[in-house]
Amino acid sequence: MEYRVDSVADTVELGRKLGSMLQKGDNVCLFGDLGSGKTAFAGGIAKGLGIDGYITSPTFTIVNEYEGRLPLYHFDVYRIGDADEMSDTGYYEYISGDGVTVIEWADIIKDILPPERIEVYMEKNEHESPDSRTIRIRFIGDRAAGYERRLAGEGACSRYVHGDGRHSGGR
Ligand SMILES: Nc1ncnc2c1ncn2[C@@H]1O[C@H](COP(=O)(O)OP(=O)(O)OP(=O)(O)O)[C@@H](O)[C@H]1O
Ligand SMILES: [Mg+2]
Repeated sequence: MEYRVDSVADTVELGRKLGSMLQKGDNVCLFGDLGSGKTAFAGGIAKGLGIDGYITSPTFTIVNEYEGRLPLYHFDVYRIGDADEMSDTGYYEYISGDGVTVIEWADIIKDILPPERIEVYMEKNEHESPDSRTIRIRFIGDRAAGYERRLAGEGACSRYVHGDGRHSGGR
């Protein structure tokens, strides 16, 4: 599913919609360059899970925990040298645990990502406004079809870009 958003608020809102659907054990992998909006999107997910606390990237730690409708485990693996270091963070327990895990810079640990996951790709639209982003969401696993249907049905805040480039939705 592909979205074009034009403000940080729209990115947060899309994250919120996804977050409000998430269930125990879901893992969300965020991909995208520096400043593409991964943390903003993660903040939206937190909102959708009923978490009020402000989400920032964990600076000195690799993972932060938040309490909401479900626990949220927010990883930023930017400073991880390689996947081998992840077991020390409790990563394997988190991804098989009772909460929702969100992983920024998921490409750094691509070999150990959970097989069932939600992938979110964030990209700046360089030739458009500085606040413009393309966000692609890919669901992998048993819950995929249900999530896709629900997110599409939500008529997202941002414009839903169909396969053929048509736009629909909007405010
Ligand atoms: N549509 C948008 N979506 C998200 N962020 C946006 C958007 N437009 C502008 N921004 C700005 O871009 C920056 C995104 O920062 P954010 O920390 O979310 O990115 P990030 O991908 O997590 O970066 P990092 O790789 O450093 O962790 C913020 O300053 C935000 O205000
Ligand atoms: Mg970040």
